Amino acid sequence: MKYVRSSSKKYLPSKEAKRISLAPEDIYKKAEKSKIKFWANLAREGISWIKPFTKDYEQTSEKFSWFKDGKLNLCYNALDRNLDTPKNPAIIFIPENVKEKKQTLSYLQLYESVNEAAFLLRKKGIKKGDVVSIYMPPMIEALIFMLACARIGAIHSVVFSAFSAEALRTRIKDGKAKILISCNYYFRKGEKIFLTKKIKKACRKIKIKKIIIDRKKTGKIFVKKNTPIIPPEPMNAEDTAFILYTSGTTGKPKGVMHAIGGYAVQAYWSGKYIFNLKRNETMWCTADIGWITGHTYACYAPLLNKATTVLFEGMPTHPTPDRFLKIIKENKINVFYTAPTALRMFAMQDNFTSKYALKSLKILGTVGEPIDKETWNWLFKKIGKGRCPIIDTYWQTETGSAVIDALPGHGPFIPSYAGKPFPGIDYSIINKKGKKAKSKEEGLLVQIPPFSPSLIRGVWNNPQRYKKYFIKGKYDSGDNAFYDNEGNFRILGRSDDIIKVAGHRMSTAEIEDAITSLPEVIEAAIVGKSDKIKGMIVAAFVKTKKPITEKKIIERVIKKIGPLSKPSEIYFVKDLPKTRSGKIMRRILKGLLEGEEIKNLSTLLNPESVEKIKVLIKKELPKKK
Ligand code: WTA
Repeated sequence: MKYVRSSSKKYLPSKEAKRISLAPEDIYKKAEKSKIKFWANLAREGISWIKPFTKDYEQTSEKFSWFKDGKLNLCYNALDRNLDTPKNPAIIFIPENVKEKKQTLSYLQLYESVNEAAFLLRKKGIKKGDVVSIYMPPMIEALIFMLACARIGAIHSVVFSAFSAEALRTRIKDGKAKILISCNYYFRKGEKIFLTKKIKKACRKIKIKKIIIDRKKTGKIFVKKNTPIIPPEPMNAEDTAFILYTSGTTGKPKGVMHAIGGYAVQAYWSGKYIFNLKRNETMWCTADIGWITGHTYACYAPLLNKATTVLFEGMPTHPTPDRFLKIIKENKINVFYTAPTALRMFAMQDNFTSKYALKSLKILGTVGEPIDKETWNWLFKKIGKGRCPIIDTYWQTETGSAVIDALPGHGPFIPSYAGKPFPGIDYSIINKKGKKAKSKEEGLLVQIPPFSPSLIRGVWNNPQRYKKYFIKGKYDSGDNAFYDNEGNFRILGRSDDIIKVAGHRMSTAEIEDAITSLPEVIEAAIVGKSDKIKGMIVAAFVKTKKPITEKKIIERVIKKIGPLSKPSEIYFVKDLPKTRSGKIMRRILKGLLEGEEIKNLSTLLNPESVEKIKVLIKKELPKKK
């Protein structure tokens, strides 16, 4: 199947691609007629309901619901209904160590394992509506417990396994989790990474039950015993499926809440239409299970679609840079979904792609950060061999599923553009004057009601914060973007104080809080600095009252948040540029780091600070390289 390049640097699907597309040709038109009816039809067709819904969409100011009076169970939809072909593989788990064998779990085995885990959770007193913290890398038991929670109506809150003990503790406490599920260790870059100490520290003086899985026994823990069948709990469509903490503009992470009905519907259909995912096909989403991408495209979407999901434990370049290609080849992966940072890393070391034919691949997807043209072209030619469309998917923890992207049979695929809003979803761009932007005019990306089924329903313990997502009846994404005159969106990056480092979402405020917790520090400002591989790196400007080493600052960030957030560059400054109302001008600091000329300093309280920092950067930068 060839993808043809049109004259304007666009790729268009071939006839064959159109023919095999699961999304019908007239899908956009159909959705446009009535978005609500469109989703209601998809909900009936794609998801099995215990009690069918009669209400589709309702909204009063920022509160909205989908399929409100319907009842369903997410685990039933992902497992039980797929048992007509019980032997089909559901999960392929690939340990990092090449000497350790991969494990394949069939739908029946996964169903039985989830039942065992659900039984165990019940035995531990976990009930419908309780929060269950899962602090695990991508391993079989992480999925088993997520699904077991869904089965009994408990709410999982997965915490990324590289977060620090303190970060885990904050999330356990905010969620008021009843139980923590984790493992003793896992492998990454050939090393054993232990979680045991972190777990102990995180749970100090908190009343919480624990289940700690032994990594050595992974895949063999929940084998069928004579436990009674735990029936899937009938849940209301608007009950919470899970919470997932993500970085916001304040120092405190937000527990983003998703509703069962809307999430199930959109996870299912986005998997089918965006990745053209068919039953029995194999999808490898390389995102960690601790992020939303892992939740939706390494767990729920493939299982809801009766496909096979691949879980890889470690680093996809270990022990050799072509490890990820070996995995694609050996497991006949059809859909490969990853982050541009990973691709840039692969491309940098590439002397191996020509040795792999990669015939099984049919769709390539990217997520988490903008993809540059060079990486796009490398992916298209060297991995996809010109056969596979590249689907650049834009979305957020808050949207639950991918929301802006070209569909494989529709296109167009334009390097660095995400594409059009998914059928039935409406996005727009608001310019500085608060008006709808013209084509190519940059502005704030907003979602227009009716809001998409899997959009955020609340912030755990913080209803006020939830309200802040909405401005004048629209959902504010916090991203800047523009569209071309055919309505294809290009995402430019955040409009707020969130930065993306290697596709991971971080809050500048959270890192600043960690640094200012050091007694030697008066103030700190964090900005993202462009980086060829990671998209961005963390740069810190620190004002101290007493001398302090860079090492101590880095250690503090690792302790409070985790290694991902540690600053790559630290500048000790005498003063930080501020507005007259005392707000630190991070934008200016960023400009200085990028070597831009800073104009118009008249609104600053201390314009002289800018020149001093400029000189400092010039002096320090060569040492940091
Ligand atoms: C960014 C990840 C450009 C964006 C699914 C968004 C992207 C944030 C893209 C959400 C993309 C995600 N192109 N930028 N294709 N996808 N982003 O919550 O800034 O970890 O707001 O969800 O990632 O990150 P999150």
